[in-house]
Amino acid sequence: MEPLAAATTEASTLATQTGTDFVPVLTQLTAAYLDVNGNIKTKHQPRYKNIVARFKQLYGCEPAFFCRAPGRVNIIGEHIDYCGYAVLPAAIEQDFVMAYVVSDKSEIEVNNIDKDQFPAERLSTEPFQKFKEGHHWINYFLCGYKAVLAIDESYYNKVPAPKGMKILIDSHVPPAAGVSSSSAFTVCAAVTTMHANNLHEVIPKGDLSKMCVTAERMAGTACGGMDQTISIFAEMGKAKLIEFNPTLKAIDVAVPSSVSLVIANSLTPSPKLLTVGTRYNKRVVECRFGLYIIAIKLGKAATYGDVKYKNFYELQTELGYSFDQMLDLVKTHLKKGGYSHDDVKKALNVGDLSNILKDIPYFFEVLQQNVRFHLYERAYHVFGEAQRVYQFKAACDSDALSEEDKVHKLGTLMNESHYSCRDLYECSSDQLDELTQLARDSGALGSRLTGAGWGGCCVSLVKKDVLASFLDKMHSYYTKEREPGYQLWVTDDLDRYLFATQPAKGAFILDPKYALWM
Ligand code: GLA
Repeated sequence: MEPLAAATTEASTLATQTGTDFVPVLTQLTAAYLDVNGNIKTKHQPRYKNIVARFKQLYGCEPAFFCRAPGRVNIIGEHIDYCGYAVLPAAIEQDFVMAYVVSDKSEIEVNNIDKDQFPAERLSTEPFQKFKEGHHWINYFLCGYKAVLAIDESYYNKVPAPKGMKILIDSHVPPAAGVSSSSAFTVCAAVTTMHANNLHEVIPKGDLSKMCVTAERMAGTACGGMDQTISIFAEMGKAKLIEFNPTLKAIDVAVPSSVSLVIANSLTPSPKLLTVGTRYNKRVVECRFGLYIIAIKLGKAATYGDVKYKNFYELQTELGYSFDQMLDLVKTHLKKGGYSHDDVKKALNVGDLSNILKDIPYFFEVLQQNVRFHLYERAYHVFGEAQRVYQFKAACDSDALSEEDKVHKLGTLMNESHYSCRDLYECSSDQLDELTQLARDSGALGSRLTGAGWGGCCVSLVKKDVLASFLDKMHSYYTKEREPGYQLWVTDDLDRYLFATQPAKGAFILDPKYALWM
């Protein structure tokens, strides 16, 4: 079991990053993984040694560098980043590591420690190559590769010929579990590509995260920027408020020291790309329809084509409204219970929906696969959730609240967030509802799904003094008999599925030449 830690930061050390600095190059593994007390987490040393040994077997030499990017837990602020609103995540210790050497061939060899699930792949060094068909795992590598070498010409023009590479991947981030394995993979590949091509002191963190977001959207999810940004900007021991507007900022948040964040995996995976038409991208489309309709009703545009706002944040900013006023707008201008295709056409003043929203990947599939769009419910969630993020930060920052009141307030906000995801955004699942309720019954102050939802993990806020009994009680989720159709995916090695976590370090490059770890 992980040390029983929490997201703790002294208020005096709170700071804001704007992403003009670079992904750091570390020379000591001992600086990379520390527990809350600043002690080295020695369990990573054998892991890195094993990567070196396997690398030698595969490629006949030692790796020149390691690049590494973490997964994340979103503490609060779900499905609002693509509407322009701030979110409040932290990085987790579970990460992707890529050991690599540059090669003189125009080829990228990618091996994975888990060679059964991820057999070896070879790619050309052509940055504009197509993604592979069928949502192949190597596409996430390609996302990171393209992020650096195929998106912003002011950077990729500095690279006359992309370098060949031999890579070995080791990932500890559970896939399709809502802790952002896809972005950790993308960011890790981007950092590796950036370093191999000598751009690591050219591309600042802010641009790197935006390019990773663009690349992941090219692969199919209409994602916001939370996952890539926290994977790059995270700092040890700090949760972050990430604001995307008006400019990208990562602001430290001190979660009280008397509580721990506990991640529990529902063991029902939810691969985003396999269900984009009915789940993730559909929600993005619903928010956009809602935005257009409100703008038209307010007289800001005659038809969808005249709407100048990209997201709800831009509309709210122009109106100068509070979140409560935005919630009132939803009540006044959108109808409960869903819109048919015809309802949407009428409200947007268009004859044909298939020619709009070209910037949302798989928009056509969204139209084909759904008969109703729940615009009131989705918009109501977005404004309520965006408000809760700031209420959460305000409670963390408050000098007026006692520690006890503070942690109760945070727990309540997390529960409200879950109920809104469940009832309004409809991105929970039976298992996540069961697991979050079990968490509340087992002593959590609050519990909510984390990440895109429809499966994956939940995060609970638990007082440190009841943590041990909380974890014991949570075991029943994993051990109880289940009906067919509700079987869990796998049930061994519980510590990987249920653990207390603390905010981990963001992406870095490790130079093994100097690493004090042998
Ligand atoms: C996924 C996306 C994020 C965010 C969350 C939901 O993780 O990649 O951008 O939208 O879902 O909050």
